[in-house]
Amino acid sequence: MLRGMVKKYFIKTFGCQMNVYDSNRMANMLEDMGLAPAQNQKDADVVVFNTCHIREKAAEKVFSDLGREYEIKLERAEEGKDTIIGVTGCVVQAEDAEILKRAPYVDFALGPLRYYRLKEVVEEIFNKRDAKLLDTEFSAVSKFDNLPENKSLGGCSFLAIQEGCNNFCTYCVVPYTRGVETSRPVSDILKEARRLAETGSVELNLLGQNVNSYHGEDENGKERNLAYLLNKVAEIDGIKRLRYTTSYPADVDDDLILCHKNLKKLMPYLHLPIQSGSDVILKKMNRRHTRDDYLRVVEKLKEANPDIGMSSDFIVGFPGETDENFAKTLEVVNRVKYIQAFSFKYSKRPGTPAAVMDNQVEEAVKKERLAVLQELLFDYQLKFNQGSVGKVMPVLFEGNGRHKGQLTGRTPYMQNLYAKADISLINKIVEVRVNGASMNSLSGEVL
Ligand code: 5AD
Ligand code: SF4
Repeated sequence: MLRGMVKKYFIKTFGCQMNVYDSNRMANMLEDMGLAPAQNQKDADVVVFNTCHIREKAAEKVFSDLGREYEIKLERAEEGKDTIIGVTGCVVQAEDAEILKRAPYVDFALGPLRYYRLKEVVEEIFNKRDAKLLDTEFSAVSKFDNLPENKSLGGCSFLAIQEGCNNFCTYCVVPYTRGVETSRPVSDILKEARRLAETGSVELNLLGQNVNSYHGEDENGKERNLAYLLNKVAEIDGIKRLRYTTSYPADVDDDLILCHKNLKKLMPYLHLPIQSGSDVILKKMNRRHTRDDYLRVVEKLKEANPDIGMSSDFIVGFPGETDENFAKTLEVVNRVKYIQAFSFKYSKRPGTPAAVMDNQVEEAVKKERLAVLQELLFDYQLKFNQGSVGKVMPVLFEGNGRHKGQLTGRTPYMQNLYAKADISLINKIVEVRVNGASMNSLSGEVL
């Protein structure tokens, strides 16, 4: 415990859901130390930037935001207040010692596999103000064994079941920043799931960079797959909704498809990135699937649950991508009719094979292809949302909406929904009649 006035913390999360999960675990740790959440960055004695390195833009934003945090630190210093600035996540792993050179005012930097040391590190800096700490060890020690118990921070929680990736897609930094794939043991996951249910979670999203290649051991040392785990987690009473993300198309097995047929708690929505619709590009990306392999998986999923809505990630302008290759991506979109999707311009990442491939695509071409793709994706998304009008959907309310007296929540399809509702409904699943739709959200009336 720290002496003196109650200290406050602020965690700024960049990037993926794994980072959201890691940030929650860090929040748990800081609260265990007696720190309270700050309403804004200026009030925080400890600020942690949990960073993302997936695309150049994401990584650069970290440094510009850090610069602003340094100004806040100087302003606070004038008022006699000390500020500890920490950086965690994938930028730390990728930049390593560079981070302390580029941002010398940073007090500590911990890699994504090392943030379990947060408590010890913050205490050391509080006690010995000139201490600086950098830890980017790619350790074999499971960070999960070293974290305090997870505590739910809302109705919907992420639960990391697997971390790292062995796929080495040629554009991606993840295998270098998060390391090789490791699956947590079944019993640890179930314990964490029960604890999250006991502390208020009604929805769990099982997380992993390659979540469906999960192969953790059960208590008898037998390897189990994601389908087994989903069935086990579904047995927990308090958990009403289940999701998992992110899946790799080549690792969707029949057991998992069966879950979409039989497991009522599993939501009818799946994020299954294809990246490109061209077999030539998929090969260059080192993806272990063709366009047809992918479409077959989607077909099987739709047979298992005709109501399933698909989502995906796309990269446009991968090195060597021609207009014809790009047209194949549009074809896939027209076949699958995604209800939601994320699309990106290819971004060169240092150290990855694609960064040094010939025939890098010009920025202007990437920009144009992204605009064409997004117009098509957004059109399907809008149509899907409009098709929800008039339907009654169970909505998990998560927090206050944009207007007074309004809450925001999510439908089974991950659509954002706004409705007039009492704050007592936050973290509850409530029947709502949808009465309006736009590309990004729905509006509704609580029944
Ligand atoms: N450039 C653009 N997008 C990328 N992604 C991963 N690496 C890159 C990159 N170098 C995208 C992929 C992935 C998502 C999380 O980010 O689509 O699925
Ligand atoms: Fe990156 Fe490919 Fe692994 Fe996804 S599957 S994390 S894109 S290497």
